[in-house]
Amino acid sequence: MASDGFKSLLKEKTSEAEKTVLSFLPEESGFQRDVAEAVNYGVRSGGKRLRPILMKEAFLMYGGQDPAIDAFMAAIEFIHNYSLIHDDLEAMDNDEYRRGIKTTHAVYGEGMGVLAGDALLNLVYEITSSQVMDSPDMETMKRRALAQHILADKAGINGMVGGQSADLSAEKRGEASEELLLFMDEKKTACLMEASLMAGAALAGASEDDIRSMEECGSAMGIAFQIRDDILDVTGSREEIGKDAGSDEKNGKMTYVSVYGLEECRRKVEELTDKALSILKDAGGDPGFLSDLIASLSGRSK
Ligand code: IPE
Ligand code: IPE
Ligand code: MG
Ligand code: MG
Ligand code: MG
Repeated sequence: MASDGFKSLLKEKTSEAEKTVLSFLPEESGFQRDVAEAVNYGVRSGGKRLRPILMKEAFLMYGGQDPAIDAFMAAIEFIHNYSLIHDDLEAMDNDEYRRGIKTTHAVYGEGMGVLAGDALLNLVYEITSSQVMDSPDMETMKRRALAQHILADKAGINGMVGGQSADLSAEKRGEASEELLLFMDEKKTACLMEASLMAGAALAGASEDDIRSMEECGSAMGIAFQIRDDILDVTGSREEIGKDAGSDEKNGKMTYVSVYGLEECRRKVEELTDKALSILKDAGGDPGFLSDLIASLSGRSK
């Protein structure tokens, strides 16, 4: 059970991350107003803000001081939000609710849903490249460029997009091997957790070894996170999870739960969480709040 101290700290850190993320949203004006509104609707709809929090914690753990962290926190949340907007489209999971309200495409239409995702991904490169260009010295520029490279790599074809592609292919074929399930969850979900922790460490100037530890930690916690999401899709309700339960079954999705069952999946989540925590413990730095956060996710109900 998470302590009251942890819960109030999490609340504080969530609202800080939220404020930072929202400060980078576009203005709703001009002939592009509709797409800006669709972008803002999706991003303002809340959510756990987990990825920017992870980034900030890794950054602090390695003694980070670079003010560019704010833009990178917004960037990772923008990538995540774009992935959600596209994931909900009719052409993908065809879902009508997210974060307790109608999905972006359900409100603004499929076309604006596609464009809102595109706009968010592009904003990521607009705001992070500005940080790289405005670096005060060469060392800072290298750190920022590395963080930007990490985001690009983990979001793309060898990362989240690759995982979403494997997800759709498994759904179409109606079958998935253990190898494919692992690939899918690692890529579609864990890669953005890895990117969060790695980019935070990179901005703080952590060593290559430490950045690699962050990658391993993010991989284990991210796979656990997706398996927990698949569990909640079966056991949760819209009131709890903010999205329609039973979406995976409706779409005939191959998930850890459909293949291994709930009990085995709960065991896997515990095992992967322990793995993430032990990697974190061995990584240089003081994990403090980050360990509590990762531990709390294994039993989350939303
Ligand atoms: C949902 O992510 C998509 C998955 C990777 C399972 P989150 O559960 O972090 O969604 P929000 O941001 O809190 O809404
Ligand atoms: C989504 O996995 C992972 C993404 C990259 C968006 P899901 O399709 O299970 O996520 P939810 O359940 O719709 O949030
Ligand atoms: Mg999906
Ligand atoms: Mg989905
Ligand atoms: Mg899901």
